[in-house]
Amino acid sequence: MEPSLIQNISFKNDKNVQLFIKREDLIHPFISGNKYRKLKYNIEEAKRLGKKVLLTFGGAYSNHIAATAFSGKENGFKTIGVIRGEEIKSKIDDNPTLQFAKSCGMQFLFVTREDYRKKSNIDYVANLKLKFGDFYLIPEGGTNTLAIQGCEEILVEKDAEYDFICTCVGTGGTISGIINASNEEQKILGFPALKGDFLNGDIRKFAKRNNWELIRDYHFGGYGKIKPELIAFINAFKKTYGIPLDPIYTGKMLYGIFDLVKQNFFEQNAKILIIHTGGLQGIAGMNKKLKQKNLSLIDV
Ligand SMILES: Cc1ncc(COP(=O)(O)O)c(C=O)c1O
Repeated sequence: MEPSLIQNISFKNDKNVQLFIKREDLIHPFISGNKYRKLKYNIEEAKRLGKKVLLTFGGAYSNHIAATAFSGKENGFKTIGVIRGEEIKSKIDDNPTLQFAKSCGMQFLFVTREDYRKKSNIDYVANLKLKFGDFYLIPEGGTNTLAIQGCEEILVEKDAEYDFICTCVGTGGTISGIINASNEEQKILGFPALKGDFLNGDIRKFAKRNNWELIRDYHFGGYGKIKPELIAFINAFKKTYGIPLDPIYTGKMLYGIFDLVKQNFFEQNAKILIIHTGGLQGIAGMNKKLKQKNLSLIDV
């Protein structure tokens, strides 16, 4: 596969910091960005083990659920999505992500938040096997050792020229792969989409280096939370650069990076590579919610 396109984002600033964006979102319309990277070796492994069913976990608007449903269908697997929130069951028709997954043949199990928290528990998974038969388990967000191996391929040799590499963080798998593929002189900045400080340990578990830092100031109140200034930023960004951003991950990261540049966080002439991890399928679901609240929408 060809390395993803890198585009310059010209943005006048005092320190001549140069921004570049790696368009991993263009890899595939449904298995875009880090989802492609995370599923690649997992699908290979499931095939090697002769599995017929993929089972995974996710929230109602999860990019990972959508990508697993599509990729499963493409590769001849039956797919099962264990979805957080029993109440979502009656709202499938209102949810573009689940509608899409269903159209790919995914079967759902809606569980309470309490049960969902047991997703890594051996007994809980054994019970799922009693219910559904044998399956290949892909964890929430797709993050496991094979996913990290896939995410290491986000960077190619030529990317050694960048001083900073920025990525969004959910479960920490994507940034771990990027850290492992970086060199010691580079600094990897992660922008968590969630509130809280539980991620460092997860990343340390997978990452081979210490050249990274999480910037925790741009989650906009927590996972899935947004503010009108974020929508305005995403729309202005698309208008200026012709690049769409999603409201859960990449929009928040880009907002943060622009803010950091304005605050002179980066040194003179620094070259920054920003990974566009995709997630654009989430725009439709967010626009539905914004419409219900009579707020401005994300331009599509
Ligand atoms: C679009 C997008 N970007 C970034 C992330 C974060 O990746 P990770 O969970 O590997 O930290 C996710 C999901 O997890 C995502 O859907």
